[in-house]
Amino acid sequence: MIPEKIRKDKPMSKTHFKFMLKHFKQRDKKYPPLNKIERTKIKEGDIVLDYGCGPGSYSIAAAEVVGNTGKVYAVDIHPLAIKEVEKRAREKELKNIETILTNCDTKLEGNSIDVVLLLDIYHNLSDPESILKGLHRVLKNNGWLSVDDHHFKDEEIIDKITSIGLFKFIEKEDKVFNFSKV
Ligand SMILES: C[S@@+](CC[C@H](N)C(=O)[O-])C[C@H]1O[C@@H](n2cnc3c(N)ncnc32)[C@H](O)[C@@H]1O
Repeated sequence: MIPEKIRKDKPMSKTHFKFMLKHFKQRDKKYPPLNKIERTKIKEGDIVLDYGCGPGSYSIAAAEVVGNTGKVYAVDIHPLAIKEVEKRAREKELKNIETILTNCDTKLEGNSIDVVLLLDIYHNLSDPESILKGLHRVLKNNGWLSVDDHHFKDEEIIDKITSIGLFKFIEKEDKVFNFSKV
């Protein structure tokens, strides 16, 4: 049963998405996505879930790091995001990316993910607690949750992620906050 609040999360308009796409292309030139991925715990062979992947800047960089023995699930509420990630994966001939269109439940197996990315999306969520519970379920016991969100101060991010008692703050690497599973 999908929680009531989550149903209010709707994909942004096509115009808004196209604007975001353009903006992220400029952002990625200035701040290469691989630099952010290097602040997470992602390593070769890992299974990664990029929740709220958008056009896939970080999904693609993560897929290159995990290599053929790893896998990246790129998840978004927006069909255009899914289409863009698939296009980029095809262009780069990456076979280790799988897309999932959802606004909450990834339906992935529990305890199956090494690193969850929650990058620049927390501020978008109308029911972050339900999303965090779902991410906690799929994360392996020794897995990592990596978060960034420039809309919040450092203490706010740490408080928001840890307040439901499922994640423990471990370290901040540049703008990326790494949490372990409680
Ligand atoms: C600001 S963008 C960030 C994209 C990407 N993480 C990045 O930093 O390049 C936020 C993304 O989250 C997606 N999103 C918003 N609410 C969502 C939800 N409830 N479930 C899945 N994706 C969602 C949006 O469609 C959008 O693509």
